[in-house]
Amino acid sequence: MPVLSARVAPTAPLDLIIDTDPGADDVVALLLAMASPDVLRIRAITTVAGNVRLDKTSRNARLAREWGGREDIPVYAGASKPLLRPPIYAANIHGDEGLPGVVVHEPAQGLADGSAVQYLVDTLSAAQPHSITLAVLGPQTNLALALIQAPAIVRGIKEVVVMGGAHLNAGNITPVAEFNLYADAEAAEVVLNSGVELTYLPLDVTHKVLTSDARFSQLAAIGNQASQLVVDILMEYIKADMQRYGMTGGPVHDASVIAYLIKPELFKGRSVELQVDRRQGATYGQTIVVEYTTPEQPGNVVWIEDADAQGIFDLLSTRLACLK
Ligand code: RIB
Ligand code: CA
Repeated sequence: MPVLSARVAPTAPLDLIIDTDPGADDVVALLLAMASPDVLRIRAITTVAGNVRLDKTSRNARLAREWGGREDIPVYAGASKPLLRPPIYAANIHGDEGLPGVVVHEPAQGLADGSAVQYLVDTLSAAQPHSITLAVLGPQTNLALALIQAPAIVRGIKEVVVMGGAHLNAGNITPVAEFNLYADAEAAEVVLNSGVELTYLPLDVTHKVLTSDARFSQLAAIGNQASQLVVDILMEYIKADMQRYGMTGGPVHDASVIAYLIKPELFKGRSVELQVDRRQGATYGQTIVVEYTTPEQPGNVVWIEDADAQGIFDLLSTRLACLK
């Protein structure tokens, strides 16, 4: 069985588009990314329906941008529903407003003109070859629609890093499926078949990146607005998972993707051949690692399985201290 391997840290800032369905852990991921301009050059935030409806995920992305002090980043609204299946949401986890633990308001700055899908098509079509990284923190609908409309955009993509899936870990929306995949398995299949460089951070690793009293104290000690927002949001967000799984803390799913982009050496994974189950029924949205492949014959996905959880919280704390 090939051993887990760590990827080297980026030597130059990454041109990054964050596709997201904020969502409690999405906001933590966005704040971490916005606090890291030395490593991540965020070109845009694109929003999708997922945890809550599109109007709320888009409002929450604008809120995160305001809290991060980064109104220079455009926010484009994308797909309001999955490719084929009926929409599902996770308001039971993220609250009706999609942001637990805090009072939301209408941010001053609005959305950018145009749809997220058209932005992806235009930007990735015009990009230098393999120059733009995408972090996909919700259902993969926007990217799938862009790939269907303009398959050649693959040329402009350096890598797609997805929060989603589960293999050795049980699902969190059904016994076998993770929410982002279950919300649009067809979209995940389109992305999987597109040939892009694809990395997954599944529940197998995010359930190892858990909050704790000590980690909440670490974050609270920073003493600024951003860290207090993260503490307040996560304190509320993790309750459902802790109760469901009997865990001692809650998983910080989406921020793990951003931490991976900043410090990949905190993570370990391997090349696998991955399939997504699109059959209607009990296994819809399941991700199956059908084979652990070899560097000589790599699979279609880099599957991240392990992480230095304390290293991630140290990174998050250090970066949040840079915000207001
Ligand atoms: O299963 C966890 C994922 O689903 C996270 O991205 C969370 O924000 C929800 O979108
Ligand atoms: Ca998300």
